[in-house]
Amino acid sequence: MKIITLLNEKGGVGKTTLATHIAAGLAVKGMRVVLVDADPQGHATVALGLQKEPGLYDLLVRDAPFKNVLRFIPPQNYQVPNQAVTGQLFVIGSNVETRNIANSISDSFSVSERFHELDNSIDVIVFDTSPTPSLLHGSIYIATDAVLYPTTCEYLSFDGLVESIKHRQAAETHRGQWGLNKIEVLGIVPTMFRTKTLEHSENLNQLKQQFGSLVWEPITQRTIWAEAAAIRRPVFSFAPDSKAAEDAWNLVKRVQEAMVSVS
Ligand SMILES: Nc1ncnc2c1ncn2[C@@H]1O[C@H](COP(=O)(O)OP(=O)(O)OP(=O)(O)O)[C@@H](O)[C@H]1O
Ligand SMILES: [Mg+2]
Repeated sequence: MKIITLLNEKGGVGKTTLATHIAAGLAVKGMRVVLVDADPQGHATVALGLQKEPGLYDLLVRDAPFKNVLRFIPPQNYQVPNQAVTGQLFVIGSNVETRNIANSISDSFSVSERFHELDNSIDVIVFDTSPTPSLLHGSIYIATDAVLYPTTCEYLSFDGLVESIKHRQAAETHRGQWGLNKIEVLGIVPTMFRTKTLEHSENLNQLKQQFGSLVWEPITQRTIWAEAAAIRRPVFSFAPDSKAAEDAWNLVKRVQEAMVSVS
């Protein structure tokens, strides 16, 4: 089992959108996936058709068994029409109570200890996080094998990216003290990219200069992403032949390829 976490300390850069599409896409491709909503906004929970609920709070603070918090997502909520889903997708939900987890968990290993109970039954766990750092992020860093950073090609998103990288590096110092290895950086995904905007093109070049091959193909800004979100379906389910769906599948494929090297 591998744990992938989506991070950027700037709000609204595409963390939840990417987390839900990666989780659903990997399930379509045959993996057993758990999407964990670690944001009190509960948007990853809602995005796959569920009601907000304190799933992660119950798991980490009330010590609930997984069977009480894992919500099975029916394939019709995310499948490509007329194409069988070969994996499985579960969500651990969130609501405003997630905000209290940081004050209530006793040690940084809480997330790691609970989620490794799934070692033999799940292939991938995807964490969607909130933009505001907290002690919950600290515990997620201890559990995480690999991170993916979505960012728009704008100044404030880059600032959020830099802050997130600093916090990951600080977390790696802690991990080192406990004999844990570094967290693999899968990549940086430019999101909501406006191809005709000079500002975005220049900023993308700057990102590539700084991070080189870690920068993945940009995902173009298209209305269809918001339309799919409004009916709580992934773009490849809502509009399978769209350019947005193509971008989403390229992302899922790249995650699958990058995960191979994660130890
Ligand atoms: N490629 C895209 N084109 C157009 N709209 C997009 C695209 N990707 C995401 N969006 C929209 O942008 C908005 C913000 O995305 P999202 O909620 O994924 O960001 P976030 O980083 O999770 O935000 P927060 O930090 O508040 O949790 C959403 O309404 C989403 O539908
Ligand atoms: Mg979000």
